Amino acid sequence: MFGRFMHQHHVRYQDRHQSHVTRFLRNLPQLNVICVLLNDGATEALSIASVGCSTGAELYSAIWLLQARINARGIRGMGIDISTWAIAAACEARYPHGTARSDTDMPAEVSGLTDAQQSGLFDEDGEYLRVHERIRDACTWTVGDVRDPATVEALGQHDVVMANNFLGPMSDNEAIACLQGLMPMVKPGRYLVVEGIDLDVKSRVLGPAGWRPVTEDLEQVYFADYWKRGWPWIRWAHEPIDRRRMDWRVRYSTIFQAPGGTAASVENVATTVASIPLSSARSPAAAKQ
Ligand SMILES: C[S@@+](CC[C@H](N)C(=O)[O-])C[C@H]1O[C@@H](n2cnc3c(N)ncnc32)[C@H](O)[C@@H]1O
Repeated sequence: MFGRFMHQHHVRYQDRHQSHVTRFLRNLPQLNVICVLLNDGATEALSIASVGCSTGAELYSAIWLLQARINARGIRGMGIDISTWAIAAACEARYPHGTARSDTDMPAEVSGLTDAQQSGLFDEDGEYLRVHERIRDACTWTVGDVRDPATVEALGQHDVVMANNFLGPMSDNEAIACLQGLMPMVKPGRYLVVEGIDLDVKSRVLGPAGWRPVTEDLEQVYFADYWKRGWPWIRWAHEPIDRRRMDWRVRYSTIFQAPGGTAASVENVATTVASIPLSSARSPAAAKQ
């Protein structure tokens, strides 16, 4: 098919640059599935990490929903980002109204929220919206580069590690090493959330390692982020789901259960195609990243 050929051999090598773009409830169906998975009757406190957290919208969104649904267990959030500016903004937790930030060229983190979501997450604060204190108090923030194994080890283990939308701009080899380095951050039998990554890279790393793709609401979660339209012409856009692929569950799921642990199940582990070639040839456009 023309679109797959075009994306695989040309577009996937283009425009690889990191950004801080993020927004609250960016993938609400994904957060809903996470809430269901964590609402398993256990009583220990929960811990959730957002890796490459940017200005904090992803972690605050997750904490808000988890507090609303399973607060009895106590919930702690930790965000880490390589950018000092982003972590300072996350700590501040104060976001401009509207559709764009005036201090950067990124869209506003609050764009697209309903009134109910806005009042659930924020207090009004003049020209800004400030995340409610009880949500802020559950979170800690760290500056760090998660390509560094010592940094990752110091972050400890968590029930959920969200590693969304920062592995895609890396070179394939860098993304593979970074993803492999993050996997031990997930407690046995618990969950890694990873989207905004090259799909071949994800399948190659997670499939053979025995991580179970969570298939609940797979399609809804996969297509939820409306910033990812425009395939095949945009590198990070959603490729159409192809259920004829042997590895389709691993390829299109964004939530994975780690092997081990009492809750882990190996029954539904998808067959993965470890032999899918990862093209090592790079087009000259890749140098832009
Ligand atoms: C596009 S934002 C994604 C924010 C959020 N995870 C989301 O999905 O909405 C990517 C963030 O990853 C951060 N980042 C990129 N490389 C990183 C690294 N090696 N270690 C930690 N953070 C990194 C960037 O600074 C940026 O803020």
